[in-house]
Amino acid sequence: SQVQDMSSVKTAAAKDMAFAFDIDGVLVHGDRLIPEGKRVLEILNGDNELGIKIPHIFLTNGSGKPEAARCAQLSKILHSPISTEQFIQSHTPMSALAEYYDTVLVVGGENYQCREVAKQYGFKDIVVPNDIVASQPTLSPLKEFFTAEQRATSTPRDFSKVKIDAILVFSDSRDYATDLQIIMDLLQSEDGVLGTRAKHPTNQRIPIYFSQGDLLCPTEHPSPRMSQGTFRIALEAIYKAITGVELERVVYGKPELATYKYADDVMTSWMDTIHNEERLPKNIYMIGDNPQSDIIGGNMYGWNTCLVRTGVYQGEGNDKQNPASFGVFDNVLKAVETALKKEL
Ligand code: G3P
Ligand code: MG
Repeated sequence: SQVQDMSSVKTAAAKDMAFAFDIDGVLVHGDRLIPEGKRVLEILNGDNELGIKIPHIFLTNGSGKPEAARCAQLSKILHSPISTEQFIQSHTPMSALAEYYDTVLVVGGENYQCREVAKQYGFKDIVVPNDIVASQPTLSPLKEFFTAEQRATSTPRDFSKVKIDAILVFSDSRDYATDLQIIMDLLQSEDGVLGTRAKHPTNQRIPIYFSQGDLLCPTEHPSPRMSQGTFRIALEAIYKAITGVELERVVYGKPELATYKYADDVMTSWMDTIHNEERLPKNIYMIGDNPQSDIIGGNMYGWNTCLVRTGVYQGEGNDKQNPASFGVFDNVLKAVETALKKEL
């Protein structure tokens, strides 16, 4: 019958669209739910006219916790199950680096949490700034507090015998002074051995990677707060001023191309998990609040981009520099409803 035909056409269309959600500023503010986010996940998990799951993944520049822990926390806030198989945070693709570097300095977040993330990615020897502070307290004269918990989760060792192969900034620095000092010492060392000094600024410099480049992040605070990008800019300026040369570095996360490619792979295997079809849906919608990361990246990658007004972006109309291709919406529910109306 015609009704049946119509519904199979719509079912096919529902499997040929997918959503990539930014998290902070779209679904939550820190630990606080954005109420429309909860409804959106109910709809996409099957509470829709077709009773079908509509594929969606989460693509966040967030960081600092193992994927499973962050998914559990988000599932609770959003009242919907979120699987690690549909979840990419800024440092997730950096797991590929474990093959290349044995000993790494992992910077940012609660040090012990980022150590755990790196361990799960397969890095063999993981050093965090607190290990270095515990070994050499005079290294960071501006550090005022070294808490009992930080001490208990640090491993002092003789760093004159440790060759650090790469620096991985996973998350926001909790102590700019100490982290910048340690990174500057390492970048100027001979092949990553603390306490040594390379003769030339670039010859024996170890590589440095950042998990994302956002300048601002929406949080529980009324206006957006500084994010990892500002830490990188501070380091770049200090490095240039002291050595006279530009700092070469690699940045992951949105809007970097590698992250969107990674998202395609995750979307493809998630389709297999929920619909037994290992393929990429044709019409992908990215919903984000930050024109400078979510939207510019999605536009470059050929996705339909939706800008929401619940996070970093607060302007009138569309963003001037990086306009969202599918439009600007008051919140995530309005964006999803409009996309569903168009496709189904
Ligand atoms: O900018 C830092 C990060 O918390 C942003 O997360 O979900 O908006 O990409 P998200
Ligand atoms: Mg965001």
